Amino acid sequence: MVTKECITKLKQRGNGDIASLLNTQRDVGSINYILENLGQLPDNFNPDFLYSLLNHNHPQVRLNAVKNIGKLNGKSDVNSLYALYLHETDTGVRREIVSSIGRQRQHKNKSLLYSFLEDSDPKIICQAIRGLLVFENDKEVETHLKPLVNHENEMVRTVIYKEYFAKEKKTNNVLPHAETYDFLKNVVVNADVLEVLKYVPDESIHLTFTSPPYYNARDYSIYPSYQAYLDFLDKVFQETHRITKEGRFLIVNTSPIIIPRVSRSHSSKRYGIPFDLHPYLVKNGWEFIDDIVWLKPEASVKNRIGGFMQHRKPLGYKPNSITEYLMVYRKSTEKLLDWNIRSYNNKTVEESKVMDGYETSNVWKIDPCFDKVHSAIFPVELCKRVIQYYSYKGDLIFDPFGGSGTVGRTAKALERLFFLTEQEPKYFEYMQSKQKMQSVFREHHPTTFLTLEQFKNTTR
Ligand SMILES: C[S@@+](CC[C@H](N)C(=O)[O-])C[C@H]1O[C@@H](n2cnc3c(N)ncnc32)[C@H](O)[C@@H]1O
Repeated sequence: MVTKECITKLKQRGNGDIASLLNTQRDVGSINYILENLGQLPDNFNPDFLYSLLNHNHPQVRLNAVKNIGKLNGKSDVNSLYALYLHETDTGVRREIVSSIGRQRQHKNKSLLYSFLEDSDPKIICQAIRGLLVFENDKEVETHLKPLVNHENEMVRTVIYKEYFAKEKKTNNVLPHAETYDFLKNVVVNADVLEVLKYVPDESIHLTFTSPPYYNARDYSIYPSYQAYLDFLDKVFQETHRITKEGRFLIVNTSPIIIPRVSRSHSSKRYGIPFDLHPYLVKNGWEFIDDIVWLKPEASVKNRIGGFMQHRKPLGYKPNSITEYLMVYRKSTEKLLDWNIRSYNNKTVEESKVMDGYETSNVWKIDPCFDKVHSAIFPVELCKRVIQYYSYKGDLIFDPFGGSGTVGRTAKALERLFFLTEQEPKYFEYMQSKQKMQSVFREHHPTTFLTLEQFKNTTR
C-alpha cells in the first residue's frame, strides 16, 4: 500500500521512482492520492511525468497534475498549461491552470493572465485578477484591471472596486465605529419613522431589527395599494441604510400575508411580502446574508387546511402557515466582518461572546407571543437571539416599528442601547406603561419618550 511516508521517501530519492510508482497504479483514486501527497517539490525535481498526466482522461488527475506543476516556482512550463487551458472543459481544472500560472509571480506571464480576463467564467477572471494583483504599483497591470470595475459580473466589479476605488472614498462619519450619539440612546419617539429619521445622522446605529406593519392586515397598517406599501418600506430601509454604520446588519421579520376575499365569488389574495421587499433592499445597498425561518407550533396559527381536509380536491390545497422569515442583510461594504469586530475593545468582545446553547440552524422554533394591547408583538426569545448574535454590548439597536417596545426592553436587558419610533399614540403609551414597571433602579441612560418636536430639539 502506498503511504505518505513512502511518497516522501521516493520524492527525495529521485522522481523516476515516483513516475514508475504512478505507472503501476491502475485506479484513479491511488494516482490522486500520490499527487495530493507530493507536498513541496525539491529543486532537482523532474516534473516530466506531471506534464504527461495533463492528458489523463480523468479531470481530478489533470487538476492535481496542474497543481503540482504550479509548485515548480518559476520553472514550470506555462505554455503546456496554456495549451491545456485552450481545450480544457472542466471548470475546476481551468481555474487551477490560471491559479498555477498566477502563483509563479513572473512578469513574463502577465500577458497570459491578461488573456484570462477575457474568459466567460467569472471565477477564472477572479483567479486571473488575483494573479495580477501581486504586481503592486504596476501601471500596466492597473490599466488592464481598473476598467473591470464596470464588468458585467458583480464579483469582478466588487474585487476591482475594493482594490482600486474604495480607498479613495471619503467618509464624513466622525464617530468611532463602536460609539453613537447620546441623543439617540434609549429614546422612543412617537411619530412617523420617516419624519424622525430626517433628524438622525448618517452611520449612527449598529443594528436594526424590526417587523414592519403587515400590508393592510391590521388596523394600524392601511395603505392605498400594495405598491404604495412597498414604496413606503423602500424609503424606510433606504433611510435605515443611511443611518447604519458600515458593514452592520438589518434583520427584517415578515411573512406572506393573506387578504380575505371580498365575497364568495372572489378569491382571497396572497402577498409574498419577503420576496417582493427583497429586490428593493438589495438595490439600495443591503447585501443579502441569510434567511432564518421562525417556526411556530401549528396549533398557534390560523387554520387554513380545514376546507381541504373535507374535500381533498387537488388545487384547493392550503397549508397552515407556521413560518415567518427573518431576512438578514448587511450594509454593503468592501470591509470584512473582522474590521467591524476589531473596532471593539477586548473587554467588549469578551463580554459579548454568545454563551452555549445558541441556535445552530436557520430554523428557529419559538412560540409566538400574544398581548392584550398589541396584536403583533415579538417573542422576547426571538429578540434575544437576534440581538445577541448580531450586536455587541453597548451597541445602538434600532426598531423603526417599535410597537410594544420588545426590541427596546430586550436590548436594555442585554446591555445594549435602543432607539425606537412608533407612530400610534396608543402603542407609544403602552410602551411607557411597560417601562414604568421596569425602571425601578437608577439607570445610566434612562429611557426617554419624546414627541417629534421634543426629539428635534434634542438634536440641535
Ligand atoms: C408589527 S408591529 C411591531 C411590533 C413590535 N415588533 C413589538 O414587538 O411590539 C408594527 C408597528 O409599526 C407601527 N407603524 C406603522 N407605520 C409606522 C410608521 N410610519 N412609523 C412608525 N411606526 C409605524 C405600527 O403602529 C405597529 O405598532
